[in-house]
Amino acid sequence: MYIGIDLGTSAIKCILIGEDGRVIATASEPLQVSRPKPGHSEQGPESWWQATLAGFDNLAKQAPREMAAVRGIGLSGQQHGATLLDKAGNVLRPCILWNDVRSAKECHELVARLPDLPRITGNPTLPGFTAPKLVWVKKHEPEIFARVAKVLLPKAYLRYRLSGEFIEDMSDASGTGWLDVGKRAWSKAALEATDLSLDQMPALVEGTAQAGRLRAELAERWGMAQPPVIAGSAGDNAAGAIALGAIKPGDAFVSLGTSGVLWATTAGFAPNTTAAVHAFCHCVPNTWHQMGVILSAASCLSWLSGVVGVAEGELLKELGDTAERPAPVVFLPYLSGERTPHNDADIRGAFAGMSHDTSRGTLAQAVMEGVAFAMRDCLEALQAAGTQLSSLDAIGGGARSRLWLSIIANVLSLPVNRLADSEVSGAMGGALLGRMAATGEPATVVCKPPKRMETLEPRAATRDAYSESYARYRKLYPAIKEATR
Ligand code: XUL
Repeated sequence: MYIGIDLGTSAIKCILIGEDGRVIATASEPLQVSRPKPGHSEQGPESWWQATLAGFDNLAKQAPREMAAVRGIGLSGQQHGATLLDKAGNVLRPCILWNDVRSAKECHELVARLPDLPRITGNPTLPGFTAPKLVWVKKHEPEIFARVAKVLLPKAYLRYRLSGEFIEDMSDASGTGWLDVGKRAWSKAALEATDLSLDQMPALVEGTAQAGRLRAELAERWGMAQPPVIAGSAGDNAAGAIALGAIKPGDAFVSLGTSGVLWATTAGFAPNTTAAVHAFCHCVPNTWHQMGVILSAASCLSWLSGVVGVAEGELLKELGDTAERPAPVVFLPYLSGERTPHNDADIRGAFAGMSHDTSRGTLAQAVMEGVAFAMRDCLEALQAAGTQLSSLDAIGGGARSRLWLSIIANVLSLPVNRLADSEVSGAMGGALLGRMAATGEPATVVCKPPKRMETLEPRAATRDAYSESYARYRKLYPAIKEATR
């Protein structure tokens, strides 16, 4: 038996699976995000820990016999967050999250200090990443910066509470801005540019490796016969890739969660820093991947649903389940700035082309299309870095909408697979990593393609209509940028 923990932004999900991969029990605990100032986004690490305890208690209650036989645990974590600990292991301030854009200025300062930084890390220096957040803390909270003994990503903090160890995996470490991604090692030069040193970083391992054991008193609390091994684990996107079996070059998926991701597994390390492509290590050895990341995806629809006061399900019901033609309104999904391809923390969203006839249904369709257009931007950025894709699996909350996937298939001109279970993949990926760490089996044995219910194919007339709409979308970013500066 294996447990996966998905430390997301809006919830912690735990899953208990059997030796055959069957799901035995699941538990979900909500999390809150605090936005103390515009562009700021924070969470208290203690809330992750309390939610994890509640999730495990719940699994133990549902399946005590299987819980006793757990051999491995794996984590899937929201990436990039800066969790700062003092030398006694106490949290110094709330974690600054992946979608916090306060450190845009500090990104420029960092690159001015070490112009070679994007080349060393193989990635653009983005405010979402961890390094510029530490430059911000040094400038605005120097008394906290002076006490930083360890900088941990969110799931490394959970590992610390579960096992007492300071360990990070390569896939998540890739999003710090301190990893030499090609070499799979911390870069001393990148750390020094942030006035940090190697001893403030956790040790590095591959995601499939053993990286600590559950503390004995916790194993006892949950009735486990032996303290299970904890896997190196993965950032949430790499964990999703494990659950989808996306471990060979060309395997690809789109994720419609709070953020939106276009993922491609690559044969080697393949950066394209100018279009804000993320070129990261995969969580399996000797494998890399590329991602285009947009900061607001399914969260755009939740936003609209809140504004118009109608539940998302109701909004979607009005629209049917297949894309026919683009809405007359175009939406820019930049509700909290954008990463790929613009790397622009200050840009904000827009609706263009509204009239007296514009209904809330049209706005909802435009929102889904705007997210799909942003995904096409990501596809073009990946293509410019040498990646060609032939189809995509779809995961995340937004992937439950057949209409949204049909729009994405037409906008990207790629077949999109609708999965039987698009929801629990981060946690499932974590559980499979727990299995690999406990048994030593390779990813090629453990990772299987998911059950696909249906493939949504682009249709020529619809695809062409969306290409025209995409051309209008492309013109809006520079215009809105100009008008709102
Ligand atoms: C990836 C990223 C997001 C978060 C969301 O670079 O920032 O996908 O990992 O949890």
